[in-house]
Amino acid sequence: MAKRTTPMNLSFIMIFMIVLCASNMFVCRGEWEPSWSSKAAEKAEAVAAIPCSGHGRAYLDGLILKGHDEPVCECHQCYSGSDCSKFSSDCAANAGSGDPYFLEPFWMRHAASSAILVSGWHRMGYTYSDGSYISELLVKYIKNVHSIVGNAITEGKYIIFGSGSTQLLNAAVYALSPNSSDSPAKVVATAPYYPVYRTQTEFFNSRDYSYEGDTSLWKNKTDSNSIFIEFVTSPNNPDGKLTRGILEGPNVKSIYDRAYYWPHFTAIPSPADDDLMVFTISKLTGHAGSRLGWAIIKDKAVYQKMLTYLDMNTMGVSREAQLRALKLLDVVVEGDGKQLFQFAYSTMRDRWTRLKQIISKSKRFSLQKLSPQYCTFFKRQRDPSPAYAWVKCERQQDKNCYEILEAAGINGREGSLYSADNRYVRLSLIRSQDDFDILINKLKNLVAKE
Ligand SMILES: Cc1ncc(COP(=O)(O)O)c(C=O)c1O
Repeated sequence: MAKRTTPMNLSFIMIFMIVLCASNMFVCRGEWEPSWSSKAAEKAEAVAAIPCSGHGRAYLDGLILKGHDEPVCECHQCYSGSDCSKFSSDCAANAGSGDPYFLEPFWMRHAASSAILVSGWHRMGYTYSDGSYISELLVKYIKNVHSIVGNAITEGKYIIFGSGSTQLLNAAVYALSPNSSDSPAKVVATAPYYPVYRTQTEFFNSRDYSYEGDTSLWKNKTDSNSIFIEFVTSPNNPDGKLTRGILEGPNVKSIYDRAYYWPHFTAIPSPADDDLMVFTISKLTGHAGSRLGWAIIKDKAVYQKMLTYLDMNTMGVSREAQLRALKLLDVVVEGDGKQLFQFAYSTMRDRWTRLKQIISKSKRFSLQKLSPQYCTFFKRQRDPSPAYAWVKCERQQDKNCYEILEAAGINGREGSLYSADNRYVRLSLIRSQDDFDILINKLKNLVAKE
């Protein structure tokens, strides 16, 4: 016999439902209503909506104005004031670091699809449920992005994550070195090269490997007992050239740094299939601050040694960073998977075209030579769009090009940092539109004075 609902039972059920509705574990009136997420979402959107005159950004974790709870605008170089509206023309252009702010407008246009909101108890443990530090779903997305772009072969290979590719560079050196202090591996690179290969190798000061200078010193000399580890950056930082390894022989192992092997910065002539390749989200989506890179590795033993390194070092990449990368890659692969690349390429190509126009009027400065090339991703010949300008001072007396540009209000990076001559300076083209516009103006003025 069915029990009758007494008034006491009824009021108990109602109280129970109110509690469940309030704690949002229940569908109220047939509709799910957010509770704890609403405030967090409102706050995130309110901060992101602070305009900072378009010349700065306010962040959730930024400073708060005294006496208000409104975050302070962090202004772009040469802009100041509480809303970043004051422009100062006698301030230097920032063309130094490779912060990839050029991709910010893309993410602003994709604000809704790229946002994430996490609960206070999101993945508190050290590992995923399979006991690893690596999100298998993120591995799947990374493979998918590579297959859409056609820039790397991932089938049958191992993937490992690092806190940026910076961590993986040394993990790779460690993994490729013999565990023998009698005959440490010789780590080399070809100038001009990304300085971290040298500085990091020297800093860790291992008995198993040491930095041994430019590859040119070792050409045709690799038949000794030593293992050679050659860093190859392709496209190269600073000059944007698609390079190949120089050293040959059974003792030579290569680390291919593919940070810039994306349609933003280069044509993709074919998928890269090197034994050990390193990529990074920093130059793909522009989220350098998230610190997530990945290595694609052919050899299982090398993969396992790199895993050990990561285990000893950081126990994997933050789960929040992996979640964020997942969300961002989800946007990258949306639709035909071309939107981000089209935006990034056209921005970088336009910047290169503007820069080239100015430098073409100069006899004092020159740029690296890059040619149009067929791109299998865009399925057409495409113009160059490098991440950096590798500027040369052509006058005999201009021995320190960095100082010449600095005197004209342009801060780049000296050639010697890249183990090249100081007649060269690297100018970053991947920063914000404000930084780029200021750089272009300063260069125009400098060239006009010739
Ligand atoms: C060639 C190259 N490799 C690696 C990195 C480091 O990237 P990540 O942010 O992934 O550590 C950079 C950063 O500018 C780079 O230019």
